[in-house]
Amino acid sequence: MRIAIPKENDPGEKRVAATPQTVIRLRKMGFDVAVQAGAGLATDIADNAYQEAGATIVDDPKALLSSADVVLKVRPPRTGAAGSVDEVEWLAPGSTLISFVWPAQHRDLLDKLAARKVTAFGMDCVPRVTRAQKMDALSAMANIAGYRAVIEAAQFFPRFFTGQMTAAGKIDPAKVLVIGAGVAGLAAIGAARSLGAIVRAFDPRSATRDQVKSMGAEYLELTVHEEAEGKGGYAKEMSDAFLKAEMALFAAQAMEVDIIITTALIPGKPAPKLITAGMVESMKAGSVIVDLAAEQGGNCAMTRPGEVVTHKGVTIVGYTDLPSRVASLSSQLYGATVAAFLEEISREGKIQIDESDFVVRGAMVTRDGRVTWPPPPPPQAAPVPPPEPGVAATAPKTEHTSHAPSAHAPAPAAVWLGVALAAGAAVGLAAIAPPSFLSHFTIFVLACFVGWQVIWNVKPALHTPLMSVTNAISGIILIGGMLQLSGPPTSLAAILGAVAVLIATINVAGGFLVTQRMLAMFRRNN
Ligand code: NAI
Repeated sequence: MRIAIPKENDPGEKRVAATPQTVIRLRKMGFDVAVQAGAGLATDIADNAYQEAGATIVDDPKALLSSADVVLKVRPPRTGAAGSVDEVEWLAPGSTLISFVWPAQHRDLLDKLAARKVTAFGMDCVPRVTRAQKMDALSAMANIAGYRAVIEAAQFFPRFFTGQMTAAGKIDPAKVLVIGAGVAGLAAIGAARSLGAIVRAFDPRSATRDQVKSMGAEYLELTVHEEAEGKGGYAKEMSDAFLKAEMALFAAQAMEVDIIITTALIPGKPAPKLITAGMVESMKAGSVIVDLAAEQGGNCAMTRPGEVVTHKGVTIVGYTDLPSRVASLSSQLYGATVAAFLEEISREGKIQIDESDFVVRGAMVTRDGRVTWPPPPPPQAAPVPPPEPGVAATAPKTEHTSHAPSAHAPAPAAVWLGVALAAGAAVGLAAIAPPSFLSHFTIFVLACFVGWQVIWNVKPALHTPLMSVTNAISGIILIGGMLQLSGPPTSLAAILGAVAVLIATINVAGGFLVTQRMLAMFRRNN
């Protein structure tokens, strides 16, 4: 199958959906790759770099898109509105599109893609769960935007970020307030701290308190308590009383800090207005506000999306293209998330869509002439049907994963036969075995049952602590096994002891290896 990577059509967009590294990865997956001439020029990638990676260069975007089975883009394709080119018309019927789609804002685009019989996936719609982290383009871009917000602030701020004691006098460090400690907010905290500023932050989700502190910033406390955590870890809309208290906190901070970076967003809603014109006017001359929520209306009342305005000596930066301003890195990370997503929906260079995979289904916005957005709720979030009137309330039903046997499904005859045989064997053993063996055997059977239940029911997020526990248990098994080894080498106990020592050693050594690999992921390349 042929993948096409066109040049982005939106004015000012410098990113490209695939870099030469992405092309190499796509070719290893079994795809042919074609790139539009000049697609990477804005990010300093020459056409011959793509050619060296194994791509062919095509001059005409219409010919490129209409001959492709899969199209990779950054921005949603243009629909011909307001005199722009119509990229949807160029897509081949039956082809697959992967790009940012923002379906809630682009309903007309969904209808056009469906009418064109294009199967489209929105990188912004990939469910943000641990398993899909490698495909999380939103986090990759938010991380870059948070860093770039600090660099933009430094560009307009007339002082150092770090404090200094020089022969000419003392320079105070800049004070930075970060509002909203999601992915972008935490990246901004990290960048401002590394430049030497004093950083404070606030986010209504209580889970962010420790994250803010671990990044070296001060977490601002509010006397009004209201939990903000909504669906999927995102914030929900806060009450008026909470917003009032929060804004009083920001009003006091505005008079003190030099830079405010705002990132507060609620999915599918306009950005909350948290910085008033009065707060802007109370800031010291030379102060800077960078509003990362500008595209969703802005957190500051004076933000103009896409522009930089100055009001009474305070600069308000409303850029909406921060990731595009770090185009080379953004393209590299975006390309990596797109390639990871393509791995989920293809086998040996052919598209194979598995709609039962909720990550794939979550990202799919159109298929076979139908608009498939919004997706059904993921399995674990499926609502529990309310009990019928008159029926006594029972314990809530739990969703079972595809590999977990249902507790309510009738057991097949083979299972009952197995249970009967096991029970018969246990009774036979009880009749002939010595009493000491029986007590050990009972503990062994119970341990198997409890261990199976614990491991089966643990959430994936808790697998790391579970691994520590299994390593500790392996340590106990090792000691037990070694004690048994002291008997005659051909005895059953010694043989079982040797097997226990071998398996437990593999588990302990494996634990160290996995820990080593996980630590390497967090280690910085200095
Ligand atoms: P976002 O861009 O939608 O929002 C940014 C921040 O604004 C959030 O931290 C939110 O709490 C905050 N906010 C909302 N209303 C506010 C208000 N009135 N005042 C101050 N701050 C306000 O969120 P983002 O950064 O895309 O993700 C947020 C969370 O989503 C993550 O921290 C995490 O919990 C979850 N997530 C989970 C992932 C996973 O792999 N499981 C991956 C990415 C995100």
